[in-house]
Amino acid sequence: MTQDSSYGPTRRYAKSVGITATGQYYPERIVDNHELSKMVDTSNEWIVSRTGIHERRWVEPGVGSSDLGAKALEMALERRGLKADDLDAIVACTVTPDMLFPCTAALIQTKSGASRAYGFDLNAACSSFIFGLSTAAGLVSSGACKRVAVVGCDVMTSIADKKDRNTIVLFGDGAGAAIVEEVEEGLGILDFEHRLDGRGAPFLYMPAGGSLKPATAETVAANEHCIHQHGQEVYKNAVRDMAEISRVMLDRNGVDPKDLKLFVPHQANNRIMEAAAKRLELPLERMANNIAYYANTTSATIPTALHQSLEKGMVKKGDYVVFAAFGAGFSWGGMLLKWAY
Ligand SMILES: CC(C)(COP(=O)(O)OP(=O)(O)OC[C@H]1O[C@@H](n2cnc3c(N)ncnc32)[C@H](O)[C@@H]1OP(=O)(O)O)[C@@H](O)C(=O)NCCC(=O)NCCS
Repeated sequence: MTQDSSYGPTRRYAKSVGITATGQYYPERIVDNHELSKMVDTSNEWIVSRTGIHERRWVEPGVGSSDLGAKALEMALERRGLKADDLDAIVACTVTPDMLFPCTAALIQTKSGASRAYGFDLNAACSSFIFGLSTAAGLVSSGACKRVAVVGCDVMTSIADKKDRNTIVLFGDGAGAAIVEEVEEGLGILDFEHRLDGRGAPFLYMPAGGSLKPATAETVAANEHCIHQHGQEVYKNAVRDMAEISRVMLDRNGVDPKDLKLFVPHQANNRIMEAAAKRLELPLERMANNIAYYANTTSATIPTALHQSLEKGMVKKGDYVVFAAFGAGFSWGGMLLKWAY
């Protein structure tokens, strides 16, 4: 089944729902390009020129995505002046769950002490966080929940082959969190558009360890529990789809790109992000960018890049903000917000 490339009308929630606080957490260990050049046949010059990445964070053994996620959530709750008990649900966005089951949301629930919350995991690869945000907003808008935490957390080093120069240089570990609640009328999420196209599956995937090809000694020996990627195919689709879906967000809501205060693209590669911003005719100062220090943290890139931009004062109440994501699936999505605080 092919994808319909046309986009329909604005998707609106019945109530005004938005992000009311953010948080982040990274492990302490910094691995720079020089350290990586001792592990695989690469160089600082190659990595910086092809990706814009200088360093990334790696967890120590024994640390899972839920550990990072719980700490990011703790910061978001503190910023909002809430207790974990105030949460109705936790949506854990991750491609690297601590284990296949129970869900990572359950582990975050217990680590953060959110005694009233239910929750679940959501995996749409690098699009997970914005798919999670729109899901959480639906729960709040319907009245099913008052406060939902969306936590993007990934330990990419658990699935990146430390001997494969094609992938190990690109990824890092980290977590970001957002609290989703009803906000002042007219603010919050104004529109979103999400897409999937499974024809992209062979270009970015982990072949074994799932139901189709359960783990065996052979699959482990063949490194089939690691990321397999066709970099150029991913690159081409990411630039086109992130730029196009962001343009749709602006056009169908009558927002001039000049009035966009912050563009938060998935942080996969600086060249992809800059190419998408160029297609939107946006100055780079208005693009959230943390790839140099943290690399691609999958579900955590958008909430952490957003959090850092908010800390720098790049956005104030009433400003237009666009999120754009692209990842395995292929999956991609855009979201337009009028900042709520
Ligand atoms: C991966 C990526 C950086 C590669 O950059 P590129 O300019 O497309 O490079 P190419 O794929 O043409 O590879 C060129 C050469 O560099 C080599 N190479 C790959 N990784 C390398 C590394 N870390 N160090 C040195 N050389 C490397 C390749 O083996 C290839 O060598 P060959 O020509 O001898 O076969 C780029 O394609 C990319 O960023 N793609 C998107 C990846 C992504 O974002 N994935 C996550 C999406 S959510």
